Amino acid sequence: MPRVTFIPLRGPATEVSVPSGTTVLEAAKANGVDLPGTCGASLVCGTCHVFIDATGRATLKPPSEDEEDTLDLAFGVTAESRLGCQVVLTDKQEGIRIRLAPSMHESSPQVRSGDSPSGSAPA
Ligand code: FES
Repeated sequence: MPRVTFIPLRGPATEVSVPSGTTVLEAAKANGVDLPGTCGASLVCGTCHVFIDATGRATLKPPSEDEEDTLDLAFGVTAESRLGCQVVLTDKQEGIRIRLAPSMHESSPQVRSGDSPSGSAPA
């Protein structure tokens, strides 16, 4: 049962223990952590995007080509980026820290519902 800490963009971190073999997305959903994962691990949405630091990444298998392809389409990708639906937690990940990635909406407060992305008025 590895202990995992989820770190949101704002607010307190959440530390949980999860059964070995649980994905990061499953662990988040089981513990009320706001990680959408809207495609149900089908590798098409990228909404399970998380950041894992070098210490944590060193304990993980590298991302598959399919995971990397989906990450290419995600917002705000860095070297720490992984897809939570593809990262399986085992005792090797004891103490891992997982930061939730911002969505495009959260990172662009000037773009609100009804605004056009270019800033011009909608037609
Ligand atoms: S849940 Fe959609 S890519 Fe992970």
